[in-house]
Amino acid sequence: MAAMLEARDIHCGYDGVPVIHGLSLEVNEGEIVAIIGANGAGKSTTMRTICGLMHPDRGQILFQGEDISRLPASETIRKGISYIPEARRLFPRLTVLENLELGAFTEKDRSVVEERLSEVFSLFPKLKDRLHQTAETMSGGEQQMCAIARGLMSGPKLLMLDELSLGLMPSLVEKVFEAVTAINEKGITVLLVEQLVQEALEIADRGYVLQTGRLVHSGTARELLDSPEVRRAYMGM
Ligand SMILES: Nc1ncnc2c1ncn2[C@@H]1O[C@H](COP(=O)(O)OP(=O)(O)OP(=O)(O)O)[C@@H](O)[C@H]1O
Ligand SMILES: [Mg+2]
Repeated sequence: MAAMLEARDIHCGYDGVPVIHGLSLEVNEGEIVAIIGANGAGKSTTMRTICGLMHPDRGQILFQGEDISRLPASETIRKGISYIPEARRLFPRLTVLENLELGAFTEKDRSVVEERLSEVFSLFPKLKDRLHQTAETMSGGEQQMCAIARGLMSGPKLLMLDELSLGLMPSLVEKVFEAVTAINEKGITVLLVEQLVQEALEIADRGYVLQTGRLVHSGTARELLDSPEVRRAYMGM
């Protein structure tokens, strides 16, 4: 079966400065796939290119068999790709409910929006108690839950999560990763970027290791967790 998402030899950069030098990766329906790598490796650039916030200079991105390389993010979200960027980017002065409803801007049918709200409340019951609180007054962990929930409000097939663990204490990191597993069990495919390599690989099916814009390893999560090179370079072992 063809992959849900396929990047074929993509090259991208900023203002002519290349950052990604020929990256190919695949995400199959139902998987959790992790992209790991050090600061500046090009993980966020890869995510931004896949969701259409920027476009590859060369190469192709296919989603469900369709070339989406040139589509803007406002279109890839309609195709079923939801990207939750680094550092959450909630609207700080809007309430939790307003943030969530904005996540569903592509959906005109109110009953579908209501249904999605009740799904995200079943995943994150705490959000329900905070509906009318502004996003800026929530704790970092609550904001991260809200950001994931907002990402789910567009009803994605593929959820892309950039550095979920950033700034969270370990017990919250664990909760957030549990939520990702629960989302995946509901049938949503996940592509995530993490610096917490071990934690990410523990919930992932497969992973890709990116080093200065190039793939240096790929394999099942188990293979990567067992790889002495990966352990030495990314898990401090
Ligand atoms: N808006 C931008 N303009 C110019 N260069 C950029 C821009 N964003 C990123 N870069 C450069 O592209 C390279 C890859 O950055 P990117 O943010 O993709 O890395 P990353 O793997 O996500 O890193 P981190 O783990 O720190 O988030 C870096 O050298 C960075 O300086
Ligand atoms: Mg990044």
